[in-house]
Amino acid sequence: MAASARTSLALGVLVSGNGSNLQAILDAITEKRLNARVELVISNRAGVTALERASAAGVTARVIAHREFQTREAFDAALVTAFEEAHVEWIVLAGFMRVLTPTFLRAFPGRIINIHPALLPAFPGVDAIGQALAYGVKVTGCSVHFVDEGVDTGRIIAQTPLSVEVGDDHDSLAKRMHVAEHRLLVHALNEIASGRISPNAQRIVPPEPV
Ligand code: GRF
Repeated sequence: MAASARTSLALGVLVSGNGSNLQAILDAITEKRLNARVELVISNRAGVTALERASAAGVTARVIAHREFQTREAFDAALVTAFEEAHVEWIVLAGFMRVLTPTFLRAFPGRIINIHPALLPAFPGVDAIGQALAYGVKVTGCSVHFVDEGVDTGRIIAQTPLSVEVGDDHDSLAKRMHVAEHRLLVHALNEIASGRISPNAQRIVPPEPV
């Protein structure tokens, strides 16, 4: 079946903050560079820019605040219910600052991806850009990977390398990192939308030039 004849991919996006990666997805859809639709955006924090971006694009957005739940499993169960009601097929973690439990992972087996600002398995966890600068690496990059129970440990789908330039600070590197991330995330989603990447596929996608 030709890619254009496929039904568009139904996405659910989890965010916690700025949402520039969400914006990259929304822009790619609007500009017909990605055959997908964002059915639901969920933020675990109220008042974040990501929610404004969703609403500006006419996409349904909800706040489900983790603090209002007694357990991580109860929070994840609420996320699952919301995404299932929205008939979402794949989940994108786009700056979502919570670790998901098996309650969530089991509901979307092999269909959850995350974007991380480092060449995993280097520098998992928070402030990967700061970690890379502190270590003094000369090449870093970004990764899109399947999500498992660990922190940034799932199988890698696609990566883009990024040089650390002399004089780079956190801001300058983060700025270039975001540009690379936005391209990579849309690239990975296109691979999924076209069926070239299937749930937990073994195929590694060659990195796109930055
Ligand atoms: C990105 O660097 C992403 O890799 C990391 O969190 C950041 C989110 O940025 N997981 P934004 O909210 O998409 O602008």
